[in-house]
Amino acid sequence: MRILFASAELAPYVKVGGLGDFTAGLVRSLRSQGLEVDVLLPDYGGMPFTLESVYSLDMPGWSVPVELRHGRIDDFAVTLVSAPGLSRPHPYLDSAGVGWDDNDRRFFTFSAAIAAWAEQTNPDVLHLNDWHTSPTLGLLANPTPSLLTIHNLAYQGITDNDWLEVFARRSEAYEWFGATNPLTGGIALADRIVTVSPTFAIESLQPETSFGLAAPLAARGDAFKGILNGIDTDVWDPENDPYMGLTYNEEMVGPKREMRRRLMAELGWDENNEPLIGMVTRLTGQKGVDIALDLVNLLDVIGARMVLLGSGERDLALAANQAAANSERFVFHEGYDEGLSHRIFGGCDLYLMPSRFEPAGLTQMQAMRYGTIPVVTDVGGLHDTVIDADEDPDLGTGFVAAEVSSISMADALHRAVKAWRSTKRRGDIRRRGMSIDWSWAVPAALYVDEYQAISSAR
Ligand code: ADP
Ligand code: GLC
Repeated sequence: MRILFASAELAPYVKVGGLGDFTAGLVRSLRSQGLEVDVLLPDYGGMPFTLESVYSLDMPGWSVPVELRHGRIDDFAVTLVSAPGLSRPHPYLDSAGVGWDDNDRRFFTFSAAIAAWAEQTNPDVLHLNDWHTSPTLGLLANPTPSLLTIHNLAYQGITDNDWLEVFARRSEAYEWFGATNPLTGGIALADRIVTVSPTFAIESLQPETSFGLAAPLAARGDAFKGILNGIDTDVWDPENDPYMGLTYNEEMVGPKREMRRRLMAELGWDENNEPLIGMVTRLTGQKGVDIALDLVNLLDVIGARMVLLGSGERDLALAANQAAANSERFVFHEGYDEGLSHRIFGGCDLYLMPSRFEPAGLTQMQAMRYGTIPVVTDVGGLHDTVIDADEDPDLGTGFVAAEVSSISMADALHRAVKAWRSTKRRGDIRRRGMSIDWSWAVPAALYVDEYQAISSAR
């Protein structure tokens, strides 16, 4: 089977969040199962890319001319879409954390290139991701079997209605209350729509948690479903992690204690017997960073320490810096840091994820893989991956807050600390989380089923 796969991110080279991990992890897994997957990625420049061949494309009149550069980044085969003048150092945001003002033009051009390449190569299935690639379906001259994965309903790419013109007879699918909505067009035109966890699929159909898209999604009936993401268990592997400098596994977690000591030293703390809580995230309302900062005030009472690694919105970074200035027990590391993130997953005891909504969430799985017990809200993919250890002592893998609030998270954190202080409970919960198969094997097989259904139906 030949899949044309298009995404705005590819971990670890261009990664803002889980979309990058998704692209790298799912594509590697599909390729290892024998599928031929051509990955299209915007050319952001600055990647360690080895060029093998160049193609030019027949682009629509409104677009700049575009070149496709096929080659490799390390061992990963990829085709970069180079559009003069549209390349940016960050996929979405300028240095002040605000969206580039030509994001519509950039991703419409990317989508037009995907459509042109699909016409030339005739893939069995075109796999699109998020709003950045959703215009493709309205720009194809000949229909191609297609699947759209929605990673986040909060980002729809809504823009001026002038853009409707580029879709000619398919403009209706993209028309949204007097504007152009790339994502609703994708939802209307893709053969199948998949979101990244079963519970988020249910939430997406409920008006209050659908970001306005419950009706268009419901209109697609059985064509819309949830498939839970995996994580790349070769990249996230406590038995082989170059960022940690030591190894452990579920049978032998001793070195995790040493990882904790090293992490504390890196953060400027002496080792102690208090639980160490970690959080690695984009700084944005979705992730409940404000809720986490409320909990900083409780660290003295609970007797715990906390480290937050994050980058994103300015006001949240300011609030985090302020909280760190006022507490000896809290460190905020501003920025995107792959190495430190691995050491936080490895060295912490508990992992905090107070998300307001979470389509899938990868960091709770990364935490469990490293024996770090997640403390989460009960939303989306968190509901599908974490079992509360007080509610289900035999199967529990973490602690789940009853509702999305600081008080509920404080309760869950308190329960987690109590369990962590019991060596037996800590060991049991940790072992269960570590022994779950979070790999891409199962979700990739489910995507292959979807590909087969789509291509045989056409
Ligand atoms: P989202 O995609 O909504 O940001 P996910 O949990 O799906 O959330 O994925 C986030 C990914 O980005 C994870 O691989 C996580 O480890 C990584 N990540 C997030 N913030 C940072 C950061 N500041 N530094 C390093 N890695 C980060
Ligand atoms: C989005 C979601 C996150 C999900 C990721 C990968 O960024 O916020 O929950 O894990 O996409 O699908």
